[in-house]
Amino acid sequence: MGPPIAAKLRDHSNKELREIIRGGLPQRGMPPIKVTDAELAQLLPYLRTIQTDRPAPRVKVQLTDNRELEGEMRNQGFADMQILTADKKLHLLRRVDATRFREVTSQKDWPAYNGDPGGNRYTTLSQITPATSPTSVPMDFQCP
Ligand code: HEM
Repeated sequence: MGPPIAAKLRDHSNKELREIIRGGLPQRGMPPIKVTDAELAQLLPYLRTIQTDRPAPRVKVQLTDNRELEGEMRNQGFADMQILTADKKLHLLRRVDATRFREVTSQKDWPAYNGDPGGNRYTTLSQITPATSPTSVPMDFQCP
């Protein structure tokens, strides 16, 4: 078993990696590894894909309040994105449509089908009130 190397790879050129792999690091416990030229031709590009410190891609996104946010994209899912801006603030964004995002303002989530792990389907959020609710269902509606 070798140690985790993903964060160390960027310190080495391909030539150095070739020497480390073929020569090993006997003083530090890595044996020489017999790899052919053909194997190295595949191994080196693979190592670059697991290298952890590739610079994060820079993105510019449009927000729903007409602002633009530019910075390093730290993560992206189908419905969200996290951008680190130059002021070192991490912005959590929720996708609204094909081109726009909004800042996530809620500190509450609804992580499972019935809400939190207790499953009581109750949210402590206060933003939805009879005044803001777009639904016509009365707020004192009782389930039969
Ligand atoms: C093709 C397979 C391997 C590759 C590409 C590889 C690559 C590397 C790299 C890039 C380093 C980091 C050098 C540095 O400190 O900058 C390293 C260190 C090391 N590897 Fe490997 N290695 C391989 C196989 C192995 C195996 C099979 C072992 C053990 C049986 C091993 C044991 C070690 C050890 C002990 C270190 C030194 C850790 C330290 O002192 O920080 N490696 N290896």
